Amino acid sequence: MNNVIELRDINKYYFMKSMKLHALKDINIDIPQGEFLMIMGKSGSGKTTLMNILGFLDRFDSGTYTFNGKDVTNLSENEKSELRNAYIGFIFQQFHLIESLTIGQNVELPLLYKGNVSIKERNKLVEKYLDIVGLLDKKNRKPSELSGGQQQRIAIARALINDPYVIFADEPTGALDSATGTEIMELLTKLNKENKTIIMVTHDEDLKKYASKIIHIKDGLVAEVN
Ligand SMILES: Nc1ncnc2c1ncn2[C@@H]1O[C@H](COP(=O)(O)OP(=O)(O)OP(=O)(O)O)[C@@H](O)[C@H]1O
Ligand SMILES: [Mg+2]
Repeated sequence: MNNVIELRDINKYYFMKSMKLHALKDINIDIPQGEFLMIMGKSGSGKTTLMNILGFLDRFDSGTYTFNGKDVTNLSENEKSELRNAYIGFIFQQFHLIESLTIGQNVELPLLYKGNVSIKERNKLVEKYLDIVGLLDKKNRKPSELSGGQQQRIAIARALINDPYVIFADEPTGALDSATGTEIMELLTKLNKENKTIIMVTHDEDLKKYASKIIHIKDGLVAEVN
């Protein structure tokens, strides 16, 4: 088993009133285990649409999707959310932390969705991953008490806590200044060196150097692979 993800001839349409938009056109992608893939392209080219399909957050209209050796083209919504909880970690541009929860409780959330993890084990894992992102001392604070870069590191700890096969990051540095963005990229690089597969969307040409492969999307087509 070496490809975590294989897409074959994926097409995606958005239907709006009388309009039909062909958002992804015959997309073929193989993503091996351990890749640091960047998806680049202009605004509106289809990057988020592609990420949402890869992350089982959205459906597609034709083609086949193989995840970790399993054909996942026709899974039910329930089966997809199970796969998502078990194998995928998400990082977003705006962090998406829950302000009414402490940092520790935010990081713990995926384990609660997963179920069947004892309080003791949950605590141990929360502390392990807060330590990995260097923020164990913030465990009982609230998200708004942290800087943007710290909040994104918390979001990364949350994405990691289920030990996912793949981490999806949609513009993870988009809301950060460039020095803080660099810290986040260095953290992602470290995780990638430990063999985590990372799939990241970015506009930022300066981040290309962190990628092991770059896919350029143009008008819903894979225009170039480097
Ligand atoms: N839910 C939706 N309904 C209808 N059209 C949509 C929807 N989401 C995206 N689109 C359209 O599909 C195309 C691709 O959008 P997508 O969000 O994937 O682009 P993107 O590359 O992520 O852009 P950005 O860099 O601005 O985030 C765009 O033309 C967009 O307007
Ligand atoms: Mg987008």
